[in-house]
Amino acid sequence: MRHYTGLDKMIHSFDQALRSLVPGATSAHRENPAQNLDSPLGVSEARHVAGLMRVNHSGEVCAQALYHGQALTAKLPNVKREMQQAAIEEQDHLAWCEDRLVELDSHTSLLNPVWYGLSFGMGALAGIAGDKYSLGFVAETERQVSLHLVDHISQLPPQDLRSKYILEQMNLDELHHRDTALTAGGVDLALPIRITMTAISKLMTKTSYYI
Ligand SMILES: [Fe+2]
Ligand SMILES: [Fe+2]
Repeated sequence: MRHYTGLDKMIHSFDQALRSLVPGATSAHRENPAQNLDSPLGVSEARHVAGLMRVNHSGEVCAQALYHGQALTAKLPNVKREMQQAAIEEQDHLAWCEDRLVELDSHTSLLNPVWYGLSFGMGALAGIAGDKYSLGFVAETERQVSLHLVDHISQLPPQDLRSKYILEQMNLDELHHRDTALTAGGVDLALPIRITMTAISKLMTKTSYYI
């Protein structure tokens, strides 16, 4: 088994951050659920959907950062494989959201480095607190992401099947990630932590829609 020094880990973390933040640096492992569907949108519809997809993309940047931060500090010997699988699926989500933004002639959020930094720190802290809290944090995050996705699906123009199929597959995956974390021993987080998480996610959704 190879031994990694602190510097190795720092370089690896930096590499992971760049892959999450630089547009086009992540590619999906699974086929885009939207496949070859055509979803023509009017100008204002496309603008609204781009705002929603930018928020979802930022959410996926946060998910990447959370899993990266957690992997750095958590032990998780029994669940590492499941957590790694979840992190790979999050990469798919990131790539699919980015693809849709490109199709809509829009861009990812300029604030993503801020969200990445915050989520990485929270993931790393949760990992230090212990695996059951770390897993609880994953479960709570996935639960909150799923609520956003359901809300966003309901806001899509009815003909936008491309976005709908992407968000529906993401929601299925997030619920599975939540269940995996709970089955692996994740505990309910204290109310102040849940409230803080909701507040940060509100701030993210309100700003990433526009910027
Ligand atoms: Fe995701
Ligand atoms: Fe997830």
